[in-house]
Order: sequence, then C-alpha cells, then structure tokens
Amino acid sequence: LSTLPSESGWLSKKLYKYQGFWHNARQLQGVISCQKYFQPQDTDILLVTTPKSGTTWLKAILFSLVNRTHFKPTKGDHPLLTNNPHTLVPFLELKLYIDGQTPDLSSFASPRLFSTHLPYVSLPKSIQDSKCKLVYLCRNPKDIFISLWAFTNKLRLQEMGTNSIEQVFEKFCEGVSLYGPFWDHMLSYWNESLKNPDKIYFLTYEEMKEQPNLHLRKLADFLGCPFSTKEVEEGMVDDMLDICSFDNMSNLKVNKEGKLPSGESNNAFFRNGKVGDWKNYLTMEMVERLEKICEEKLVGSGLKF
Ligand code: A3P
Repeated sequence: LSTLPSESGWLSKKLYKYQGFWHNARQLQGVISCQKYFQPQDTDILLVTTPKSGTTWLKAILFSLVNRTHFKPTKGDHPLLTNNPHTLVPFLELKLYIDGQTPDLSSFASPRLFSTHLPYVSLPKSIQDSKCKLVYLCRNPKDIFISLWAFTNKLRLQEMGTNSIEQVFEKFCEGVSLYGPFWDHMLSYWNESLKNPDKIYFLTYEEMKEQPNLHLRKLADFLGCPFSTKEVEEGMVDDMLDICSFDNMSNLKVNKEGKLPSGESNNAFFRNGKVGDWKNYLTMEMVERLEKICEEKLVGSGLKF
C-alpha cells in the first residue's frame, strides 16, 4: 500500500495505491470489506465501470431491463421516475460495504443488481468463481477525463475551490485518479471479456449512444432475459431507452433536486451526456498526449477509441 500526499488527491483527500489502483480512504475501506465479505449469487448482475463512463445511465437501463415484468417503462409509477439510479442499483464498495460491517442484502430480489468501480484484480475472488454476470461499460478516455474534471470540481466547489484542467490532466495522465490508472482498469476487463465472453459483456458508451436499440437487445440476450418478438413489436426496447434517456432523467425532480445519502447532489451525475465534448476543452497538446498514452497502453489489445 503506497500513499500520495493530500495535494495530489482529486478531492483534497489522501490517495492510497492498493493492488495497483488509486483509492481514497473511504473507498479503500469499502474495497477491502467487499473483498472480505461479499457473497455473490449465481444470478447476480454486476455493472462495472470506471468513474464517469456512464454508470448512472447503465444503472437505469439495467434496472428497467431486469425489472420489466414488474414495471412497464411507460407506466407512471416506474421507480426510475422517483429514484436516482444510484439508489436503485447501489455500489458495493461505495454504498453497501462502507462501514466495515456486512450489509443485510436480504431485501434484494433475484436477480440482484449491484455496481462497482473495482478493478478486475480487486474483485472478490468469489465473484470471479461464481456464475454471476458482469457488464463492463467504458468510454473514450478524453470524455471520461472532461466529465471527471467537471464532476470533481462541482463537488469541491463550495468546500475547497476548483482544480484547474491542467492540474487534473497531469494527474490523470500519470494514472492518478480514483480507480486509476484508467487504462489498466479498462484493459484488465477487456482481456477477461475476450477470455470469458459468457461472463463479461464489454460495452462502450459510444456504442450505446450510437445504436442503443441494438445494444440493449444484445445486453438482454447476454443476461439471459431476451426481448420477446411481442415486446419488440410493442416498442418495449424504445420505451425503455426513452425513460432512461439523458433528457428524461436529467429533468426529473428527483435528479434535479435530490441528494444521495452520501451528500452528493443527484444533478452532479447529469452534465450533458454527449460524445466528443472533450473537443470544447482539450488543447491540441493534451489530445496528442492522451492519444499517445492510449496508443502505447492499448497496443496489441484490439481495444481502440
Ligand atoms: P458528461 O459529464 O460527459 O455529461 P457516471 O454515471 O459514470 O458518473 O458518468 C456520468 C456521465 O454520464 C456524465 O457525462 C453524464 O452526463 C452522463 N450521463 C448521465 N446520465 C446519462 C443518460 N441517461 N444518458 C447518457 N449519458 C448520461
């Protein structure tokens, strides 16, 4: 376990390197508790992401997908209309396993849906050994970076003031960000998904944006709950995408005004939800540097952005 001084932390908190990845203290406690105590069930579904790759969106999509027989996406009482996706699909290490105690998960109906930012190396061995399924969502690192910079500044704003883009960029490129280095995070899941495609479904934010209907149907197939012909004909896939769309979700009262128990405003998870917004912020030098890192780190992997 190595540490970095507080000024290196994105939220002015000390960062710790554990199993090759950076965490703040709260997060690290959760990671270790989760590794010790989480017991997966074979029917569990785990959404894995690096921060800011579209977790909130995929949580909403997976929730509506696996609960579609109870909650029709067109019904006015759908839980997504009054709950933030992070409440419906909790993070293992950031929500359930935070205070060193084992949470009571008995109220979760099967298939249980959880999410995590854990790197593959830190996943509890029991997850790797069980039949539970993993959906890994990643995103173009340039957009992840901008989203992360904007998000942390929004959270820091009142307490500590903002970080400049240059400051944060430097750290990001050095691999110092929460759950970073981002390239190691992505690559480990990418490689595992190639070895074990029935267990890990690897998806990008960009693919999902470009062909949401196709990818939602593929996700349903992977999770063993394919859409029936009748559901497709009745427009169920598009209805689900509509309720989970950025426009719909970001305009809901719960997401405009609500807060998570951990204190973050729900609206911090909705900025503009676009592909390629990095073009409005990054200089040519920054773009070249990040592209060079990705080229070097991802070479030979088949993973490209
Ligand atoms: P931007 O900051 O680029 O807008 P995460 O959920 O992993 O924290 O990622 C947040 C990013 O996903 C933000 O990206 C946010 O706007 C975007 N996002 C949130 N909800 C979304 C939705 N329903 N559809 C598309 N993107 C969404």
